[in-house]
Amino acid sequence: MSSIHINAPKDAFADTVIMPGDPLRAKFIAEHYLENAQLISDVRNMLAYTGHYKGQRLSVMGHGMGVPSATIYCTELAQTYGVKRMIRVGSCGAVHPDVQLRDIIIAQGASTDSNANKQRAQGFDVAALASYPLLEKAVSCAREQDAPYKVGAVFTSDLFYWPDSSVYDALARFNVLAIEMEVAAVYAVAAEFNIEALALCTVSDHIRTDSHLTTDERQESFEQMIEVALGVVES
Ligand code: HPA
Repeated sequence: MSSIHINAPKDAFADTVIMPGDPLRAKFIAEHYLENAQLISDVRNMLAYTGHYKGQRLSVMGHGMGVPSATIYCTELAQTYGVKRMIRVGSCGAVHPDVQLRDIIIAQGASTDSNANKQRAQGFDVAALASYPLLEKAVSCAREQDAPYKVGAVFTSDLFYWPDSSVYDALARFNVLAIEMEVAAVYAVAAEFNIEALALCTVSDHIRTDSHLTTDERQESFEQMIEVALGVVES
């Protein structure tokens, strides 16, 4: 069995899939954290692996950039492969003054400017929400690991480069913590297929202060977030 964008055999995915945007990050996670990781899909180089983490079967797969890409991969994972849990691990740009570089945003919900979810829900603006049990576990893992974290709203945008920066003020006024590009897609697909989803995003850029993590800091912060995500899988 395979789907249009995933060429893995039937049963190749574990119930839980950790999903970074970048497929090379999926490879990094597989090589550094999983035992006996096997490459199970490589269509368009959107690499997917399954292995074991602390005795538990676990998969990791990239979802690409933006709502259309994430919607395709998450839908095929849920629909064709029967995946039960998707955990996005990404980066985001902070718009709220209470958020700092390196914070891990545990996304409780996502607003969006994308029309994709509305198209699938008869024009309604469905709330894109995290699975509460996964969110609770992530908070407790972040606390135990002493990782800096904030729980709240993100904004899933189709644009990375905004022509008008006043949008950031508007989002901050509504208590949006950060902008990223996929959470609303992952959460809506999970809702549609009645499965669980959670997104963790490290703050790699602070849009209000125009500050950015260096490449090494991004990697460190990424690894701290992966450890929180793996704690969620383990608990
Ligand atoms: N915008 C959208 N997505 C992002 C950003 C941003 O500034 N930084 C990291 N991911």
